[in-house]
Formats: sequence, C-alpha cells, structure tokens
Amino acid sequence: EASPVVKEKLAELVLDNDKLKKYIEIFTDNINRGLKKSTNPTSIVKCFPTYVQDLPNGTEEGKFLALDLGGTNFRVLLVELHGDQCEMKSKIFAIPQSIMTGSGEQLFDHIAECLATFCKEEGLEGEVLPLGFTFSFPLVQKGLTVGVLERWTKGFKCSGVVGNDVVQLLEQAISRRGDTKIDVCAILNDTTGTLMSCAWKNHDCAIGLIIGTGSNSCYVEKQANAELFDEPDMGSGEVLVNTEWGAFGDDGALDFCRTDYDKEIDKNSINPGYQVHEKMISGMYMGELVRLVIVKLIEDGVLFGGKGSDLINERDRFYTKYVSEIESDAPGSFENARQICEELGLKHAVDQDYVNLRYCCEVVSRRSAHLVSAGLVTLLHKMGKPVVTVGIDGSVYRFHPTVHDVMMEKMTELCDPSIKFNLMLSEDGSGRGAALVAAVAARKKDNSA
Ligand code: BG6
Ligand code: GLC
Repeated sequence: EASPVVKEKLAELVLDNDKLKKYIEIFTDNINRGLKKSTNPTSIVKCFPTYVQDLPNGTEEGKFLALDLGGTNFRVLLVELHGDQCEMKSKIFAIPQSIMTGSGEQLFDHIAECLATFCKEEGLEGEVLPLGFTFSFPLVQKGLTVGVLERWTKGFKCSGVVGNDVVQLLEQAISRRGDTKIDVCAILNDTTGTLMSCAWKNHDCAIGLIIGTGSNSCYVEKQANAELFDEPDMGSGEVLVNTEWGAFGDDGALDFCRTDYDKEIDKNSINPGYQVHEKMISGMYMGELVRLVIVKLIEDGVLFGGKGSDLINERDRFYTKYVSEIESDAPGSFENARQICEELGLKHAVDQDYVNLRYCCEVVSRRSAHLVSAGLVTLLHKMGKPVVTVGIDGSVYRFHPTVHDVMMEKMTELCDPSIKFNLMLSEDGSGRGAALVAAVAARKKDNSA
C-alpha cells in the first residue's frame, strides 16, 4: 500500500461523491445555459447543435472518403457500407509540429496533399466520392457542410482559421491543387462519429464520448430544447448536440476541485485559461499531471528518497502511456514501473517507491474517470431516457486498464437507479461514423426530393 504521507499529500486529487454531486449540479446548469438562445452567448459550455438529426438504421450504402483530424493520428480513409457490412482502408499521415502551429493555408494544403496521395494510391482518381470530414474541434455549424471554427484546442494553433468555415478552407486547398475532385457532404466532430458508429448496430446508443488526446461528448437532445437549432422539425424531433465539455470550468466553475498541478498544466499549455475540464481529464495532459505530482513528492522528500533525475524534471517527459503501463502491472509486480523508472534515470527506486508511484498514477487516472462519470450522469439525467448506451473512443479509454471499470462503478453510485446505462467501445468513429453521417444525410435528401 502507498505510504500514509503520500496518500495524505495527494488527498486533494481524490474527489468524493459530495464534490461530484456538486459538479453535476453546476454542469447541469452549464448545459442548460448553453442550450438556451438567451444565455448561450455568455455560456462557457457551448452545446453546439450538429445538424445530425437521424441515427443510422443499418441499411446505409455507399462508398465514401473520410478525413480524421484532431486525434493522435491524422488519417485519410476509404469506407464502403453495404447492408450490415463495413469495409475500410486507411492511411495515417504525419502532421509536423510546424504545421500544427503554422498558417491555416499550410495546414489545409497539407491535408489536401495527403488526400490526393491517398486517392492516387487507391486508384480513385476518376471518381467524385462523397467525403465526411471528422474535424475534432469546436465548430459553430450552420449546416451539415458548414462549420466555423470557434477556437483551436489540444495542440493546434493555426493562424487564419478561427472564425472561418473549415469546409471552405478545405475545398479551396483542394482546388488550388486541381488534381482531385471531392464532394464534402458532412463535417462532424469525433464525438458525433463515435455516437453514429456505435448507433449503427446498437439502437440504444444516445451519447458519444471521447477520452483521448482531448475529452468531449455529444448526446441526443430534443430539438425543442436545442434553441440554437433553427431548422424546421424534419421528423425525428431530435438533434445531436456537441457539448464541447472540455471548456467546462473556464470561468472558474471547477475551482472547487482544481489543484495547483492543474494550474501549472494550464499555465504551460498552448491555450492558457481554456479547456480547464479537458486538462483535468484527457490524455494530452494526464502524463504531465502525474509528472508534476511525482516531482512535488520528490521535493517533499517522500518519493525516490527525495532524489530525482534530469529526465523526470523535463516537461512532458512522463508519457500518458506510462500511466496505463504502470497500472497494468499485476499486483505485487513492478515490471513496467521498474522499466519506466530506469528509462527516466530513477535507478535508485525501491519497492515502496513503485507502490507510491502507482498510487500517483491511480489518483490522477481515477480523478479523470470520476469527472467523466459525473459528466455522463449529468447527460443521462438530462435526457431522461430509460436505457442508454454510451459509445466511447479515445486512447485513454482504450488503453487504460481500469478507466472503464472505475466509470461503471462511479456512474452506478451517482446515477438515478431508474436509468440503465452501458459503456461500449465504439470502433472507427471517424471512418464508419463519418460515412454514416454522410449516408444518412444522402438518404434524407432522397426522401425529401
Ligand atoms: C479515434 C477516432 O479512434 O479516436 C478519432 O477515429 C478520434 O476520430 C480519436 O479523434 C480520439 O482518440 P485519440 O486518443 O486519438 O485522441
Ligand atoms: C477537444 C475538441 C473537441 C473534441 C475533443 C476530443 O475537446 O475541442 O471538439 O471532440 O477534443 O477529440
């Protein structure tokens, strides 16, 4: 077991149910303010309507291209839907750091170039394929193919994009090249793709969640509640709402459970003051949070005999995957922990250090899972549906050994017992999900023609 002094020092990272209930209360209010026309302009949580109103029914057909920008990997995909079959080919392309923080034109030229390369390699030059663009940043949508960037999040900061329609920027870059023909028929958030991809086979799916580089959710809302969505009711009476919950807390609403570690992360980030909730949860920050905790415990003399190393003092040097690896060690075994400590020049570690190190990882990953649980319970209560499946993607959910179980346990404690929920890994939101958004839109066009 972790040393009592370590536990005591890390107590502020443990959120009890009173705190989580307080979170639910505040977050409910934030969601309601985001949905209402009168309060949305000053609301931190934006609740963007997505223009996706119908979930797939499993009969979607066609061949689609998809782009996936904003997660760990930038990918171009080719997706074929027929009946209950879905075939997919994809290729990962690197986005150099210089492009992530360069000009928008450079970014979209790079995307267009990757798309052209992919189409050439797949022999698609002659065809004009419909394309779904999974663009995982906050967008004000004015249609299924119009998305104005509200702000960059995660590691991106390209000039000249905020305030502009990214579909247009993509189309302009494609026509600057002149060698590819594409019909962009949907732009979507990764949470939307995740929800759609899961809803394809699971008809209870009504929430999409990402716990990856960033964190965000979308859910099925009644059209009447989504006041910013000024469209005639086309039948379902519902619309997917992208909460952009990563921004929760940007006005101080989460200060009651933030720590100095969180403030340090924020201060050193590319977007200080923004995405407070996301910075407490997601993979882009989790490893660094643990590193800050470790460094503090070393300074206090209660970890590694008070002796650190050059590498542990280096920013971003404790990767989020280390958290998953350390917590994956079998009880009583320190195999991964020992190797990671060696890699970081902490060769003087003793067994109790490994136990304490694991505890540092656990408090941070559990806090992340607890915040996400409280967020989901807020949405479940808000929707009031009796049975809901949550479709989930992202590297933290996929690779962390206990996040799923911790969420199940905490949500069961916090959620109204009359609501039944399920947490399900959703595969390929940006491929299958993007194709489904495009296909459902095409079906609707046919029906209304
Ligand atoms: C991927 C989805 O699997 O998960 C992406 O296809 C999404 O659209 C991503 O952005 C999120 O996870 P991560 O860990 O890659 O940020
Ligand atoms: C960030 C983005 C959001 C996205 C999430 C997960 O929070 O702003 O749009 O869904 O990361 O990738």
